[in-house]
This record gives sequence, structure tokens and C-alpha cells, in this order.
Amino acid sequence: MKIIVRDNYKEMSQEAFRLFRESLRDSSVIGFATGSTPNLLYSMISNECRAGNISFKGKSSFNLDEYYPISRGSPESYRRYMEENLFRNIDINRDMINFPDSMMDEDETVRRYLDAYRRSGPVGTQILGIGHNGHIGFNEPGSARDSEIRIVRLSEDTISRNKTRMSMAVTMGIKEIMESTRIILLASGTEKSESIKRAVKGRVTGDVPASFLQEHENTTFVLDREAARLL
Ligand code: F6R
Repeated sequence: MKIIVRDNYKEMSQEAFRLFRESLRDSSVIGFATGSTPNLLYSMISNECRAGNISFKGKSSFNLDEYYPISRGSPESYRRYMEENLFRNIDINRDMINFPDSMMDEDETVRRYLDAYRRSGPVGTQILGIGHNGHIGFNEPGSARDSEIRIVRLSEDTISRNKTRMSMAVTMGIKEIMESTRIILLASGTEKSESIKRAVKGRVTGDVPASFLQEHENTTFVLDREAARLL
């Protein structure tokens, strides 16, 4: 695992963009995360794509997770977040966007996303954030190394930090995340420093799902100084 530390959120995002652009050339499948951390990265990607400097033509995407159940137009939905922050700004073919359909019953939601992943996965370049409790995607503490796409119950910590009333989600598992060729994890702010320390320096355990990334061959943590302060 490689660690890059930049002074602040803006410089962290610029560095992540540089790595993303580099690896976009060799990746036909892109994995996206939501949340506040990749906001600036997504706006950089949007601007560079509008300027014609990068392109998503011929590429497909998977998103890590979505609340369950939720309609795609709901203000809280991750699908809507992605539409507003990225998809509508880039030249990706809409049919190539893979997203959990969170309106089906549980088995059908999982089956469809697993089928799509088996057909079009694995991911080439995966963008990740990290939760305060060390989650990646919605793989909360207690997730197994071989966990796959599934419906999960969110931890109380995640529910309160995300200020949501949703208590469940569909997420890619640790297994699918670990199958990505290249992972770029972003973290910013002191509130992430403890989970970053446990992910990078702690032992590899399902109690800190991000610690599994220590065993991934091509992962880069891009941090700002505050997130890296305990390293
Ligand atoms: C969201 C996701 C989550 C977030 C994490 C950090 O798709 O996969 O694991 O990356 O909760 O969220 P922010 O960036 O809002 O701190």
C-alpha cells in the first residue's frame, strides 16, 4: 500500500485526480464512491471531461453502494448524487453505468447487481472513501474478507454521521473491492485520522474493513495532512 500526503483537501483532490487520469487510460471499468470526500475530485473529472482532456467513451462504471430501499430520484439516493456530481457532466454511455436497483426485493436487488458484476466486472480503477469506523463501501465493522455484494444493516455510527433515516444499504463486498486492479482511497480531515491509522498500521481485521487493503497489491491512500496526522 502506498501513502501520499498533501497539505489540504484541494491538493489531496488534485493528487487523486492525477492518479485517476493516469490509470483511466488502462481501465475500462471504473468504480465510484459517493460521500463528501470525492466531491472536488468529481468536479475536476467533470471539468476535464467537458474540456475534452479525458473521456469515458467505451468505459463502464460500477458504484460501491446505495441505500436500500430507495428510489433513484430520491434526494438521499446515491444514484442522484452521482447524476448531479458526475454522470451528467461526463461522456459515459448511460447504458454502461451499473448501479444497484434498490427498488426490488432484497434477493432480486442483490441478484441483479451480482449478475451485472459477473458480466461486466471486475473493476479496473476503484475510487474509495473511508468511514470513521473504517468501513469501505458499506462494509461495516464485522465484514468478512470474502463478503460479496449483499444487503447490509448500517451501523448506528454511520446512520448518525450520514444524518440519514435509512438503516440498510446494498454494497459491493470486500471480495469485489479487492478484485479491483487499482484502488485510490481518499481521506481528508482529522476526524478520519483514527480510522486511517487503524487501516494502515493496525492488524488486518474485519473490525476495520479498510485494513484488508493492506493485502491489496495496488492501493494508494491519498490523504491530507489532517487525515494523516496519526501515521
Ligand atoms: C460511499 C461509501 C462510503 C464513504 C464513506 C466516507 O459510497 O462507499 O464508504 O466513502 O462513508 O464518506 P465521506 O466521504 O462522506 O466522509
